[in-house]
Amino acid sequence: MYGVRLQDPLDLAGWRRAARALRLGGVAPEQVAWRVGDASGGLFDGPPPPEPPSGAGFSAPRELLDLAADLVCHRSDDRFDLLYRLLWRLKDEPALLRITTDADVAEAHLRRKAVQQATHKMHAFVRFRLVNPAFEAAGERETYVAWFEPPHRVLTRGIDYFVKRMGRLAFSILTPDACAHWDGAGGLSFTPGLERREAPGEDELETYWRTYFASVFNPARVNPRLMTQHMPRRYWGNLPEAAVIPELAAAARGRTDAMVEAAPTPPSPRTGRVQVKRAPAPPPPDAAPADLPEVAAAIQACRRCDLWRHATQGVPGEGPPQAPLMLVGEQPGDMEDLAGHPFVGPAGEVLNRALAEAGVNREEAYVTNAVKHFKHELRGKRRLHSRPNGTEIEACRWWLQTERRLVRPKVIVALGATAATAVFGRALSVLKNRGVVGEVEGGGLGFLTVHPSYLLRIPEPGEKARAYDAFVADLAAAHALLKAA
Ligand code: URA
Repeated sequence: MYGVRLQDPLDLAGWRRAARALRLGGVAPEQVAWRVGDASGGLFDGPPPPEPPSGAGFSAPRELLDLAADLVCHRSDDRFDLLYRLLWRLKDEPALLRITTDADVAEAHLRRKAVQQATHKMHAFVRFRLVNPAFEAAGERETYVAWFEPPHRVLTRGIDYFVKRMGRLAFSILTPDACAHWDGAGGLSFTPGLERREAPGEDELETYWRTYFASVFNPARVNPRLMTQHMPRRYWGNLPEAAVIPELAAAARGRTDAMVEAAPTPPSPRTGRVQVKRAPAPPPPDAAPADLPEVAAAIQACRRCDLWRHATQGVPGEGPPQAPLMLVGEQPGDMEDLAGHPFVGPAGEVLNRALAEAGVNREEAYVTNAVKHFKHELRGKRRLHSRPNGTEIEACRWWLQTERRLVRPKVIVALGATAATAVFGRALSVLKNRGVVGEVEGGGLGFLTVHPSYLLRIPEPGEKARAYDAFVADLAAAHALLKAA
């Protein structure tokens, strides 16, 4: 039995080194015990793996390495065993990772999904507190701190998102595993994890969050099951607004009744409530935003059309500021509207899977929407997607043009008809014009394909699978254009 001791729970480089030596040395997975850190493994600590024969080599497929990057963040103790088992089996089963019914592959995908979800939840539920309110007088940089307890070790995986958003503001995110510190000037560092009592306490930001949450809380939509699904109880300890949930939920019945009695005619209770609570609309920005964080902030104040009135928030695009590939969807859906991020709901899952199968890393693409607010109709407690009209697409096109001007992508993929209108400036039939459409005004090569929601709506399994494969092929073709562009 061989023993491998990795330096820390996220030691992917250490796993790769050892896995390579073991695989080249012909050591089967059941002959290896993987351990992390200094703690003694007692009887299980065996000799280190044999040195690989000189000159011998093989390369692990990119797909496995991508999977490994996610899987190391999972809290399961046997994640390194699972990864090595997959690597070992790939020797005789090169298509293994595509066999989703295989128990190891299915388990790996399940864990990857849990890690991806934990990352999304971290993006949605981290709440910063200002720790130096007198920063101006003190000549300091505005500095925020957040305490967070993720179910998996996703701090390093998800930190870029905060760095991009906070820009020149300094922040620390403290977790029991590790702490990340951004100095607001390009320096990102990590220190060991902390205990909760070491994180800062109440302040004005907390009060701000509670007020904001109370103002967007819709008593007619109180559904505890759904609410805990979007905002699982595990995270409530980190969320200032969670303190007001029980109170608001208890009052919901009475508030709903009062709304119905007090509103004999339209507008709907939700519209009335939001109109009263929101600040007066600022004028549209006369100067174009200078960078993407400015775009993200300015979208929250957008009044170019009326969609902001019924949405929780505007959802800006996300991705590297100079991404060579831009993906444009239609508009945020219900989950995107709540989370504030594009493509995090069911359509996002299809998109993520298809991108991975097409060999495209979503993190390298700038993902945005033609329309930045969620347009919907209330049907009982449900918010049903409603397609944006030409006026709304045109009004929001200004934001897409601004994002394009700043990111300057080489290839722009329009997902579906609404995105086609926004990207190409004219209505196009998706199925007739699918593929490369040509140079887009303002720069970049335009590519048109279907929207992932279209795939979700196809009922017949065979047709669905063919349409999905064609979508993956389109994404791969658009990606290949990057080399030519
Ligand atoms: N559909 C879209 O077009 N965009 C999203 O962000 C989510 C669903």
